Amino acid sequence: MKRKVTKAIFPVAGLGTRFLPATKSVPKEIMTLVDRPLIQYAIDEARAAGIKEFIFVTSRGKSALEDYFDTAPLLEAELRRKGKDDLLELLKTTNMDSGAIAYIRQQKALGLGHAVWCARRLIANEPFAVILPDDVIAAETPCLQQMVEAYAETGGNMVAAMEVSDEKIGSYGVLDVKEDMGSMVSVKGMVEKPDAGSAPSNLAVIGRYILTPKVMQNINRMKQGAGGEIQLTDAIADQVNTSEGVYGFRFRGQRFDCGSKAGFLQATVAFALARDDLRTEFMQFLNEMTAINKAAQ
Ligand code: G1P
Repeated sequence: MKRKVTKAIFPVAGLGTRFLPATKSVPKEIMTLVDRPLIQYAIDEARAAGIKEFIFVTSRGKSALEDYFDTAPLLEAELRRKGKDDLLELLKTTNMDSGAIAYIRQQKALGLGHAVWCARRLIANEPFAVILPDDVIAAETPCLQQMVEAYAETGGNMVAAMEVSDEKIGSYGVLDVKEDMGSMVSVKGMVEKPDAGSAPSNLAVIGRYILTPKVMQNINRMKQGAGGEIQLTDAIADQVNTSEGVYGFRFRGQRFDCGSKAGFLQATVAFALARDDLRTEFMQFLNEMTAINKAAQ
């Protein structure tokens, strides 16, 4: 019987250097798309998929994350006094049940595989999800939920996958496809950040994973991969020829690379346009800006 996936790891130890100077004092995951931090989108997606235990792999300077998910007694008392029930309601979505959230520190930046491995004792012998909050996915059915539903059929290991261009494929983990079944592919190999021209396909790994505890054991070997880092991709690739196997899942939705400035801006525009309270005014502004830019060209 396939076990339910109730634990998720959120690797949030990165320095966020691409967003300096902002990330000098604000963790990247607290940066906001409209009015919600990146990490809130990841948590909401995990909750929708049935995750009950949230494990953050953090590092020095990330304490704002812990405060964000805590209650804020002074702020709440003030809002209550002013009768701001709508804002109190909004704050509730940021609170976690006692014991539902755990923070583990990755003391050395040795790679994504190593970050995930830091949570091994909390995962113990259960399947688990990994969510990279940089990858924000707008979807009618949240991406991890789509994967949990597909996983109920396949079991094994599953990674979110998406076609990317030849120019960009070298920035991703890439799937070597055994059999393409449409929304699902079975995988015979995986390569992290392949050199130009050597990618086995254009199907890239996007930051959502459902993994077996064996992947943790594979990371135990601490094999250095691309960029001298301990790569999660390599530890998953070690599972391809096992009975559990590895599947790529082409999710339905739009993915934004919020690890890059351009992607973050695109996500901001898309999420603002999706908001009833902002759409009309923002659209008008965008139209004006586009017209001004065109005229200047
Ligand atoms: C990580 C993973 C890579 C994956 C990517 C998705 O890379 O190592 O396999 O394709 O996330 O965003 P990073 O973006 O941290 O370099």
